[in-house]
Amino acid sequence: MTWAIVPAAGRGSRFGGATPKQYLPLAGRSVIEHSLRAVLDHPDVDGVMVALAQDDGAWPGWREIGGKPVLTCVGGGERADSVLAAVQALPATISEDQWLLVHDAARPCLHRQDLARLLAEGREDAVGALLAAPVRDTLKRADDRQHCLGTEPRESLWRALTPQLFRRGSLERALAAAQRSGIKVTDEAMAIERLGLKPRLVEGRDDNLKITTPADLALAEFILSRAIG
Ligand code: C5P
Repeated sequence: MTWAIVPAAGRGSRFGGATPKQYLPLAGRSVIEHSLRAVLDHPDVDGVMVALAQDDGAWPGWREIGGKPVLTCVGGGERADSVLAAVQALPATISEDQWLLVHDAARPCLHRQDLARLLAEGREDAVGALLAAPVRDTLKRADDRQHCLGTEPRESLWRALTPQLFRRGSLERALAAAQRSGIKVTDEAMAIERLGLKPRLVEGRDDNLKITTPADLALAEFILSRAIG
């Protein structure tokens, strides 16, 4: 049994506008509907827990999608708080050893083959795994006045994407420890790494973009207009 967690409690302040970005229309559906359908489409994914903002007025109230249960809970102040709240809200029948697939509501272009590979390779790993893409640009470290301090060797650098796949017990322990420490973790893998563990990187497509600005939405429209499968 594998459940998905979809954090959707962000306010999209970088995107702007009154409607949170996950509810904007995209290729005939909302952004979040694409993201939910992409994970629920895999036969091994049994259901999803969605973390929503306390005052979310735009959630359409889905109870199921494609015959699979869609549950909701209230998220938290940061993405990691929302994911932890969702893990804790899962039914007790999902044991500590079971795999959870965490996928951003704001990533509607997840490719079916990437998800299948992550599930296949991640469940073979003792720790778990995440989709990631090699960095293609040259990366500069800068001072606070935007002058170069140096160039990072990009050969060993990857961009972390979602979904990320970890066992329920270790994910909950990792996120709870990060929350107690007060350090901001920006993905699940970072919380797991802080326990001294090494999640596996599964190379995913570059076009699994996170909607952050209006230009991303136009790009996502184009990506979705080509076959995803
Ligand atoms: O803000 P960012 O684009 O990094 O958010 C990534 C995902 O995390 C989005 O789907 C967003 O809705 C979610 N999120 C959340 N709770 C927060 C902040 C972000 O569920 N407090």
